[in-house]
Amino acid sequence: MQDYKDFLAEILIDEQTLQTRIKELAEEINRDYIGKDLLLICILRGGIVFLVDLMRHITVPHQVDFMAVSSYGTGARQSGGSVRLSLDLKTDIRSKDVLLVEDIVDSGNTIAYVLEFLQTRQPHSLKVCTLLDKEERRETSVQIHYRGFSIPNKFVFGYGLDLDEYYRNLPFIAVVDLKKYQPPS
Ligand code: IMP
Ligand code: MG
Repeated sequence: MQDYKDFLAEILIDEQTLQTRIKELAEEINRDYIGKDLLLICILRGGIVFLVDLMRHITVPHQVDFMAVSSYGTGARQSGGSVRLSLDLKTDIRSKDVLLVEDIVDSGNTIAYVLEFLQTRQPHSLKVCTLLDKEERRETSVQIHYRGFSIPNKFVFGYGLDLDEYYRNLPFIAVVDLKKYQPPS
């Protein structure tokens, strides 16, 4: 595998900026969920790093669960297309105050699908918290209640977001130079 420095175009959001903003988001959530029955739902796998850092600053009592969706009909390093559930929750969400924790909203298709699907299970409330928002790429409109950063239409990696499943560990959000990146064979 290549070292990420070989195809790094730029660091879009550095570690300190990420951590400062995540703490602010958690403080907003702490204020809004007093007296509620908060359930954080992380959409695997991109949301994991964000979830863990966010929940360490959440002081209201809450539960955590995970779900996974896959999109198909699109190539690698693309999103959109149709979406289906590949891993369901363990928790019964009826009467819970559900907050979806996502790495990035791009076309909006994934989150729109998940919202529609979860709504049928009748949670008490259902909101969206995304670290990154690529508004320019939106195909399906979705309401975002907590947004870390709006970003330009560039393919990013690091901090949970992958390039062909690698580089999720990096502590910052980086832009890939696709001319220099060699996908694994
Ligand atoms: P959407 O359905 O188009 O909103 O896509 C959402 C999913 O596509 C995200 O949860 C990511 O997994 C993936 N994705 C979209 N843009 C990027 C990116 O720039 N880097 C890495 N993954 C991305
Ligand atoms: Mg994701």
